[in-house]
Amino acid sequence: MITFLKETNTFFLENERVTYAFGIRNGELEHLWFGAKIGHDDLTYLRTGIGSGCDAGLPGRYSPNHHSQELPVYGQGDFREPMLTWRGENGDLCAELRYVSHRIVPQQKTPGMPSTFGGETLEVVMLDAIQGIEVTLLYTLFDDVDAITRSCRIRNVGEQTVRLTRAYSFALDLTVAAPEAISLQGAWARERTPERVPLHHGVWSIDSKRVTSSSQLNPFVALVEKDTTENAGSAWGVSLVYSSSYRLFAEVGPNGRTRIGGGINDFAFDWTLCPEETLATPEVILAYSAEGLGGMSRIFHDTLRRHLITPRYVGASRPVVINNWEATYFHFDKEKLFAIIDASAGTGIDTFVLDDGWFGKRDDDHSGLGDWFVNTQKLEGGLNPIIDRCHERGLKFGLWFEPEMVNPDSDLYRAHPDWAIHAPGHALCEGRNQCVLDLTRPEVRDYIVGAVSDILSNHEIDYVKWDYNRNITEVYSEGLPADRQGEFAHRYALGLYDICERLVFGFPNVFFEGCASGGARFDPAILYYFPQIWTSDNSDAYARTQIQWGTSLCYPLSAMSCHVSVCPNHQTRRITPLKTRADIAHLGATGYELNVSHMKPEELEQIPAQIADYRAMEQLVMEGDLWRLASPFDSNLFAFELVSKDKSEAHVTLMHVLRTSNNAVEMLRLGGLEPDAVYECVGDGARYHGSTLMNVGLLVPTNRLVDFETLVWHFKKI
Ligand code: DGJ
Repeated sequence: MITFLKETNTFFLENERVTYAFGIRNGELEHLWFGAKIGHDDLTYLRTGIGSGCDAGLPGRYSPNHHSQELPVYGQGDFREPMLTWRGENGDLCAELRYVSHRIVPQQKTPGMPSTFGGETLEVVMLDAIQGIEVTLLYTLFDDVDAITRSCRIRNVGEQTVRLTRAYSFALDLTVAAPEAISLQGAWARERTPERVPLHHGVWSIDSKRVTSSSQLNPFVALVEKDTTENAGSAWGVSLVYSSSYRLFAEVGPNGRTRIGGGINDFAFDWTLCPEETLATPEVILAYSAEGLGGMSRIFHDTLRRHLITPRYVGASRPVVINNWEATYFHFDKEKLFAIIDASAGTGIDTFVLDDGWFGKRDDDHSGLGDWFVNTQKLEGGLNPIIDRCHERGLKFGLWFEPEMVNPDSDLYRAHPDWAIHAPGHALCEGRNQCVLDLTRPEVRDYIVGAVSDILSNHEIDYVKWDYNRNITEVYSEGLPADRQGEFAHRYALGLYDICERLVFGFPNVFFEGCASGGARFDPAILYYFPQIWTSDNSDAYARTQIQWGTSLCYPLSAMSCHVSVCPNHQTRRITPLKTRADIAHLGATGYELNVSHMKPEELEQIPAQIADYRAMEQLVMEGDLWRLASPFDSNLFAFELVSKDKSEAHVTLMHVLRTSNNAVEMLRLGGLEPDAVYECVGDGARYHGSTLMNVGLLVPTNRLVDFETLVWHFKKI
């Protein structure tokens, strides 16, 4: 519920567990509380009065440094990180925003931007009458998840042109100190590793300057207290619904309070706002849990599944694919693909996905991107014989694209060299021998939409894997005037969203999976279009326990595409049992990525049972509550538990990493069950009360488990 209390000029956004409160003071907005649910009290007593003697503020008022800000700007006494900055035509960079009005409305979509849906929105209008800038702050509250979202619209209501130099989505000063931050750092094949660091006085930040959300630092931060653990203590989570260069920061001020904020990266950014023009910022999801990191993750999972991902995919069964990439790389012909399709038929695998190499001149990664027509020399008769073979064998057909890219060795580049992003006079960097198309230009977007649509319209295609394999350099667009080049990174994101809207929503019967050299663009904006994302090119089962653990801090298992691949693993050379690979791949939208036609019969025979096991637990993967039980980062075990919302079913997957001799046995305590209910283990029929499983736990027989061995338990309430 969103309430405005006239007596204290305070907004309360609250549900049963969480309150977000801020007030209007002298026309400015003062942040009051974001945390556990509290009463509708007068919270002005929270002002600290602590600051340096040299602080400044308007006559007769507190210095802005002495109380918590809801919309910090620069110029009149707040010396910490602002949320918005701009410069008028005379160079004035002082911002002076005052409250005008507010209203509460059903949540509306910002055109052309991915965002959550299904909530109630508070719009607060603020005006800088001197510079002619109107800022509308948007807060969305949902009645079924402990998250609120924020974003803003910045509108030029004056007569001068204004240059926005920072346009973040949010900032607020937490009322309690949050002394530690957790981010998800990584690299290709090692995505999203949690890193917990102490905050210090001054600014800590993470960002991307890659014009993508990146595998190096995910656009996610959790702020925690020193004693916050997986299951207890406060955790404030921040997740940006954005796929381009971003920045998130935390700043501990002199009064010990922590400001958090962020949005579009202001590095190399400025945005010209002419009279009447508006810039809408990306949305940020803010979650609060008093139940530690696990509680925070469950809030994000529910928020993304209920309020962001296309509803028809939420809870629905997903395709179980066989993908030919690691089976053949670029070296395939019709016969090799037929062999994979034939071997997959009848196993429970239901979709064959033809990966990179089917188009243009594409026998390796040096050429062909951009030429989205079938290479009939490689695939005699085109795609249809492959599609027909799939259908004859009872499989659906999926196809790989990398729509945003072009190789210099391609017909597209030869016809339109200027469509590749480049800066005048500078040599062109290449990544994987390719360049990125300038999605800020409408004609380029039209080409991409036309070329991909042509293939999709003329073939029976059920599934698309949308890849993206390099970051952007020489940031510049021939389509933008000199004074708008600072808009490039955000305009690229808007261009990407435009082609996604046209292709994904234009072909509603096609299932789209996101991918970016593995998981280099794993963010809520992509999830808005694609219900699942290829989590990492590293499909080694042990490496995946870490990658999937880190990813799950923010993202639900239903968002993670996870495949069983061959051993020795192509990325780590590690050998793990086939059962282990399947058990870990079942903790996401599962599939296979190996040459099934080369599998030993005794291995191939295991696939139907694996898929039957997966289908039996699929609803838990798609909709269940995740409890992270044992961390592969700080123990010799990995364990995830999934519990159905009604607590009637639970599934536990455990990996024992390395065998040691005569070591202690371990107990694995479960979470999220009904204490008084009795649960029966499917298979051995053992019965336990929920309270026994949660307090005593399962016995992990470490002395008989070998390296990388997995155990699974499936419980049903009786
Ligand atoms: C990178 C992806 O992550 C892989 O799965 C595969 O599709 C290759 N690109 C193809 O080039």
